[in-house]
Amino acid sequence: MRQIHDLVTLDRRHIWHPFTQEKSAPPPIPITSAEGATLFAADGRKYLDLISSWWVTTHGHAHPTIARAIAAQAEKLEQVIFAGFTHEPAVKLASRLAARLPPGVNRVFFSDDGSTSVEVALKMACQYWINRGQRRSRFLAFEGGYHGDTVGAMSAGKASGFFDAFEAMLFRVDAVPFPACEGAYHGDTVGAMSAGKASGFFDAFEAMLFRVDAVPFPATWIGDEEVAEKEKNALKALTRYLDENAHACAAVIIEPLVQGAGGMRMCRPDFLRALAAKLKHADIPLIFDEVMTGFGRTGAMFACHKAGVDPDIICLSKGLTGGFMPLAVTVCRDSIYQAFLDDGFDQAFAHGHSFTANPLGCAAGIASLELFEREKTLARVVNIERVNRERVLELMRHPKATRGRVLGGIAAIELDDSILYGSEVSHQLRAFFLERGLLIRPLGNVIYLLPPYCITDAELHRAWNVIEEALSSVV
Ligand SMILES: Cc1ncc(COP(=O)(O)O)c(C=O)c1O
Repeated sequence: MRQIHDLVTLDRRHIWHPFTQEKSAPPPIPITSAEGATLFAADGRKYLDLISSWWVTTHGHAHPTIARAIAAQAEKLEQVIFAGFTHEPAVKLASRLAARLPPGVNRVFFSDDGSTSVEVALKMACQYWINRGQRRSRFLAFEGGYHGDTVGAMSAGKASGFFDAFEAMLFRVDAVPFPACEGAYHGDTVGAMSAGKASGFFDAFEAMLFRVDAVPFPATWIGDEEVAEKEKNALKALTRYLDENAHACAAVIIEPLVQGAGGMRMCRPDFLRALAAKLKHADIPLIFDEVMTGFGRTGAMFACHKAGVDPDIICLSKGLTGGFMPLAVTVCRDSIYQAFLDDGFDQAFAHGHSFTANPLGCAAGIASLELFEREKTLARVVNIERVNRERVLELMRHPKATRGRVLGGIAAIELDDSILYGSEVSHQLRAFFLERGLLIRPLGNVIYLLPPYCITDAELHRAWNVIEEALSSVV
């Protein structure tokens, strides 16, 4: 115990933690090891990691296959400058990713994390137009979207409302509404969709729907029309924007299917398809920020597959290495890459980071992709979705829970709208969960689960039981 105390004291003396009000936050919890979905603390306590440690862990913590791949790589080549040099792990990882992404989206640019993958995408789009002889520096994003904490990523995510303090540093990015399904539903989204399944309106969601007659749930469905209306309005705003700005717009960026930090807000694939068609017609590149949705989170390997959309640029990070190493890629269409080829250096993409394509990260990425196949990981996600669907549906009977939604390995419910990000209730909820051995961090009034795919049914049920308890005793 003395050692733990010394560690925390030293931490408090020297370390500045992310997204933390250091004056009032409780002392950080020292973690010594982890396995599967469980984190082991220095004081002997255990925490079930229901948010995949900020959405990065896929197969489970300290998975021996990935750990061994990193160790083996470290003994051969730990790092080498990536300008003028290459190495097998980078080539293997890039070619395997390209094989899994939409055809033609196959040119891989490495960077370090989600934010840098977005910076790269924005800069790539900007210079792509310069190289084509046009100055285009405007971008369009979606209200509630979040793309990271560096300046370009913050600008793209300005409409999330997270970055008011940095307003003066940000460049112009316009935003149109994101047609989130949940706002249009009273009560239970999944149940309501199932109830409306015969309408044929939800074919794209078929996999998430259950036999509604097997679940006697009084879903108060108010609206396929309402969602369609939101989509229509968002597309109208997009059309207006394009009418006025198409000539100046370098690219449009969106988190496909799920806005993560914005509160796990989900949109329908139909909307993404309509968006992609409009941008294709206007010849404006579409960037899918799949930093969170990539690597199985929505039930498909990538959200673009689930949505049936081929974007022009895709950003990936978080689950890329199974959650072991900081690594990211921005993958673009070959036609974009071609625009950077010229005799002089001026048209080259002058961007790079010290650790670009770090061999340890690439080795982890290759091992993780192999695990997806060997462990049939996507089938595990289907099972997580099944349990979540059952439990979210049940919870929708609770008077304090609303707008339940489930997609792949992600499930969310909402509480009273007045519970804001960083509010007292949201701190109390976090503490309530930790006291019961669960790592769950509500996003304002949204309680969500996004666990590593190795989580067991029993662990998942335990989490939902505690959430149910929290609704009755905390909120
Ligand atoms: C959609 C999305 N894009 C970008 C980022 C930024 O990633 P990172 O925190 O690795 O910089 C995040 C992080 O949560 C994200 O969810």
